[in-house]
Amino acid sequence: MSYEKFYVTTPIYYVNDTPHIGHAYTTILADVLARYHRLLEIPTFFLTGTDEHGQKVQQAADARNIDPLKHCDEMVVRFQNLWTKLQITQDDFIRTTEDRHRQVVQEILSDLYARDEIYADEYEGWYCVPCERFFTRKDLADTTCPQCSRELDRLVEQNYFFRMSRYQEWLISYIENNPEFIQPEHRRQETLGFLKQPLADLCISRPKSRTSWGIELPFDSEYVTYVWFDALVNYISAVGYKTDDGMFQRWWPAEYHLIGKDILTTHTVYWPTMLKAMEVEMPRTIFAHGWWLVGQDKMSKSKGNVVDPIEMADQYGVDAFRYYLMAEMRLGQDASFTEDDFAERYDADLANNLGNMMSRVIKMLTRHCDGQIPRRPEAMSEEDRSLQSRVLAAVRAMSGYINTMNIDQAMTEIREVLRESNRYFEKMAPWTLAKQGKQEQLQRVLYNAAETLRIVGGLLFPVMPERMKVLRQSFGISPDVAEKPQLDQLEQWGALEPGKEVEDPGSLFPRSVMRDGGKKGSVEAGAAERTQASRRSDRGVEGVQEITAETFKQVSLKTGEILKAEMVEGSDKLVKLDVDSGEKRRRQLVAGIGKNYTPAELEKKKIVLVANMKPAEVYGVKSEGMLLAATEGKDVKLVTVDGDVANGATVS
Ligand code: ME8
Ligand code: MG
Repeated sequence: MSYEKFYVTTPIYYVNDTPHIGHAYTTILADVLARYHRLLEIPTFFLTGTDEHGQKVQQAADARNIDPLKHCDEMVVRFQNLWTKLQITQDDFIRTTEDRHRQVVQEILSDLYARDEIYADEYEGWYCVPCERFFTRKDLADTTCPQCSRELDRLVEQNYFFRMSRYQEWLISYIENNPEFIQPEHRRQETLGFLKQPLADLCISRPKSRTSWGIELPFDSEYVTYVWFDALVNYISAVGYKTDDGMFQRWWPAEYHLIGKDILTTHTVYWPTMLKAMEVEMPRTIFAHGWWLVGQDKMSKSKGNVVDPIEMADQYGVDAFRYYLMAEMRLGQDASFTEDDFAERYDADLANNLGNMMSRVIKMLTRHCDGQIPRRPEAMSEEDRSLQSRVLAAVRAMSGYINTMNIDQAMTEIREVLRESNRYFEKMAPWTLAKQGKQEQLQRVLYNAAETLRIVGGLLFPVMPERMKVLRQSFGISPDVAEKPQLDQLEQWGALEPGKEVEDPGSLFPRSVMRDGGKKGSVEAGAAERTQASRRSDRGVEGVQEITAETFKQVSLKTGEILKAEMVEGSDKLVKLDVDSGEKRRRQLVAGIGKNYTPAELEKKKIVLVANMKPAEVYGVKSEGMLLAATEGKDVKLVTVDGDVANGATVS
């Protein structure tokens, strides 16, 4: 099916995070889809942005001792610059701290409150600071977060709730009746599975005493809005909901909300029920793609295996990076990133299959056709015709792949076309024709080969806009047409204009070179060393952001001695520790090390603890600090002191 218009969104990323290939992937995917729809001449709107409220942002700003908005202003640039570098063509970039967004969120809240879709109630639950999520006891196996495994805080407070539960039955039948609403199918099943449990109402407020960095509730200035209730609204606030009816009519509902599988529930349960309560139409499709793994591992700062998109783009070129991500991931499944794979694909698909073919054709046109596009062939041989129909079949197949989100298969199809055209070239052997003086045949072969490349360049343009523009211009296509391929030109065989000057742009995709230990790594001699050097200077540990000594000094580390240890009742993981940290009063710490140490093993141990940690309640037990331990998978080893030191000594 094809659309009248195409509105596509990415998640709005947490402004605090350092962008990595996961973020780059979703945004490039959205960009590729947007560009394909523009190529199909379908009016397109592409939205991305940043999620800027919440406790984590507040904490990060506090740690830097600056205003949260100033912190956001500084952090957001990293995303904006990355998108510029990666040739992303978003039509709008929304920040949740902008007035245009805040006002819409507040209007929605007022309206829902007035219609009793939101009510006040007492709340008791467990809260995960990093995930900014509440859990009720029944969701939990212990007092650690089901999402990130960190310790949860227990909270009792008055809050505001959205009557989400009231829409459970409606949502189930909506999902059942609209198979395209959640894709791919296994994610739709996942949401339906989730909805088998009774759906609770959603707590949508945070008391300012806990988090003040958020959108104030219009009906109670003691509270700010829960970040997800704020963030999801970006998809409509950016296109004029409640502010510009014309614009809103034009773009809403979105054809695609692209997301990763991590945020499926918020997008397929919270968001639809919110829209239903607001009486706004549903988006057509929420599409959750899989995870980029590094090799077989999850990418994480602590593993130090986070892949930096800037580094990849610098080494292989922006276009090659975009191509690799699109070709490698089967949408809906996880994909594995390794640099060796990338280098291999680069050489096989881009340097050889495409780049090499292109430079052979250009060189022969230069040598044997006065550097011009030859005249259009009058007759076609069987081989010519078979090449032509293969190429045109790929053009026809393209919109199907795009509409069904089979981008990787679209890339496979193009690869096959290129293989076919390389075979054609070998078989027709234009160099032999040149030697034999068979000029007419020679021109025919070169015209057909060039025409194939023109079309392939158009089909690949949404994925590799910079290189494909160069390719197309090399065959005498004017720059404005070269960067705006349109489907009807691609469906038409013979659009290259005889007599146009051909230009040799040099190697389109230079072969990659070896770097340390024979590992392929860079497309340009010298770039490898540069990157290695910058790796060393930008970061102490690969993938982990550097901090200043000032930041580190904010953490007060002290030595202590465990005097007494006992398991926390009802937990097989938490241990309650009585610690002498050199102060008048002993400290009580709760630590999640009960699976690694028995209480008896812990007594008398010298430990290192964070002394200025804000006290927290864990499982109803007070904890005044945190002890340091080394973790490797399930293995946990306490950090202790080498030799005799008084309790309470400073560790720095
Ligand atoms: O969740 N592989 O923002 P976020 C593939 N602010 N994609 C990945 C990935 C990986 N390893 N890691 C991240 C938030 N992503 C909220 C969203 S929307 C109203 C609010 C991508 O910065 C993927 O798209 O944690 C994932 O859903 C998103 O980044 C999460 O970005
Ligand atoms: Mg995340």
